[in-house]
Amino acid sequence: MVERDVDKTIEALLEERRIFKPPEDFADQANVNDASVYESASDDPDAWWASQAERLDWFEKWDTVLEWTAPHHKWFLGGKLNAAHNCVDRHAASVPDRVAYHWIGEPEGEARTITYRDLFEEVCKLANVLVDLGVRKGDRVAIYMPMIPELPAAMLACARIGAAHSVVFGGFSAESLSDRINDAECKVLITADGGYRRGQVVELKKAADEALQKTPSIEKVLMVRRTMDDVNIVEGRDVIYNDVVPQASAEHGAEPMDSEDMLYVLYTSGTTGKPKGIVHTTGGYLTGVSSTHRAIFDIKPETDVYWCAADIGWVTGHSYIVYGPLANGCTSVLYEGAPDWPDKDRWWSIIEEHRVSILYCAPTAIRTFMKWGTDYPEKHDLSSLRLLGTVGEPINPEAWVWYQEFIGGGRAPVVDTWWQTETGAIAITPLPGITTLKPGSATKPYPGVVADVVDEKGNSVGRGGGGYLVLRRPFPSMLRTIFGDDERYRETYFARFGDEVYFPGDGCKLDEDGYFWLLGRVDDVMNIAGHRISTYEVESALVDHKSVAEAAVVGRQDPREGETIAAFVTPKSGVEGDDGFAKELREHVSGVIGKIARPHSIIFTDDLPKTRSGKIMRRLLRDVAEERELGDVTTLLNAPILEEIKAKAARGASKEE
Ligand code: WTA
Repeated sequence: MVERDVDKTIEALLEERRIFKPPEDFADQANVNDASVYESASDDPDAWWASQAERLDWFEKWDTVLEWTAPHHKWFLGGKLNAAHNCVDRHAASVPDRVAYHWIGEPEGEARTITYRDLFEEVCKLANVLVDLGVRKGDRVAIYMPMIPELPAAMLACARIGAAHSVVFGGFSAESLSDRINDAECKVLITADGGYRRGQVVELKKAADEALQKTPSIEKVLMVRRTMDDVNIVEGRDVIYNDVVPQASAEHGAEPMDSEDMLYVLYTSGTTGKPKGIVHTTGGYLTGVSSTHRAIFDIKPETDVYWCAADIGWVTGHSYIVYGPLANGCTSVLYEGAPDWPDKDRWWSIIEEHRVSILYCAPTAIRTFMKWGTDYPEKHDLSSLRLLGTVGEPINPEAWVWYQEFIGGGRAPVVDTWWQTETGAIAITPLPGITTLKPGSATKPYPGVVADVVDEKGNSVGRGGGGYLVLRRPFPSMLRTIFGDDERYRETYFARFGDEVYFPGDGCKLDEDGYFWLLGRVDDVMNIAGHRISTYEVESALVDHKSVAEAAVVGRQDPREGETIAAFVTPKSGVEGDDGFAKELREHVSGVIGKIARPHSIIFTDDLPKTRSGKIMRRLLRDVAEERELGDVTTLLNAPILEEIKAKAARGASKEE
């Protein structure tokens, strides 16, 4: 094994400001290697997107590609298709023995191989069971499950009968689950007794039972036995998946859906209020995810083994574990658990065993692997990897270069992909057979995506400038609205620059070569380990505690560590702000939202910096959290409190190990 000094290597690479041209052998074989694709897509975006929609199987072809009545847009009108038919039936017919998922449970030795034929059968049976449980076209079904094969099957069974699914991440609390169920008025919940995470059982059914105390719309619960633990079963409401699905008929014809029929709703954090239900429809979404998945990950369905190591509870999993890969007839790895169970080389052992050729993950994972050291990947043969991807947050160049070098063996291109729950599919990204890569830049808009960087007034800043990222033209996979609240759709995305200009909420720099450098959110949405949480949600959870008088929350950015949650809390009088109370608050926030929203650091203070009109100045608290010189304090009512907070921060906040 070659001895390498990691720090020196990285330093040298960064100093060189290296750019990475597509390796010739990669470009030669790439699905997309002719740069004229950009030009033809920008000359006639509708024709380009139509050519991508042609790759799907339509029961009836569309007559109108795009109807754009800003800020609304509809795609492939008149067209009829079914997402499950596209993801499963056509491959079950042509390549039934191809593996759809190599499923790997967290407990070692637990694995299942699911071919397209197997998946087809499971989805049809489950579709019949859902119909028996009373689910009809147009209904909503909530899904709260671990990463087991029944999860994609459940999503596809909903799609098959024309019901929209609402997947709620298994790490969310009972309260988060009931809020989401109620917002979409789901009729059925599909869940499991539990799942495994870092050697522990995550008790999903227990949380679900608690959530269901407050969800009048739920009529039935379908529960997979995964851990086989004893759980509470409610007579007349709960049905055991393992009892009914295997017995059900495997005959089921996929429901022809209008292109614009809702495929799913997925909740994501906004700046204020409860999480909003992002609505995706059938034809446009499937076109976007299948097109980007094929071009960006250079998928060769016959030979590649692809692994997107996200959780299906987030949009990355919806688009790039379920719909994109299956629409392309691809073989994927589906892994249930944590990267450090039983040891810190679990991912690398999976890649070696299954000869994974494409890996897609978040920068936060890469930074963690960097901390753990190169010994873990070096224990394994990773030579099967030919392409790497990242998503979810800006990647610092050190992490990019480390990923390329120590995981990709210096040969695999790294595609840094920018997108959102709202865009449904990747929007700014390299095409690995064409694009010259610059570590830290998501490079260029995908063909058919018209992105720009503008100033406060909405004027393009041009090359070399910085400002706000905007999208100037809708593309097929973009959200249609916010479930039940179209006004909020308009306000959130179009109030700033007008009905024709979508504002994603990200800051961005455009370099001299026209490369996009995403700088993170410009609103009160934090990006914690690639997950969106708003400061507002965490503040609401904190003040919901009986001993908290007031709280302010900011995201603390650190280029090497990523973003963490910093909370400033004023306890009610007589309550001691000590480590014990900090621990209690963290648990409280976990209970209200989920573990991912736990504040990393908590500083107790008698007061918070406020303007004369009583507004908390979060900007200044961010300066404190990030140990910067304080910005303008002249508008403060109570400037001295800041010095006190700063002194407390310097002595050390109560931090989570
Ligand atoms: C951030 C995840 C920089 C961004 C797919 C966006 C990124 C938010 C990148 C969406 C990237 C995502 N570089 N920032 N490559 N990818 N983001 O909805 O701030 O969970 O607005 O979707 O993540 O998060 P969401």
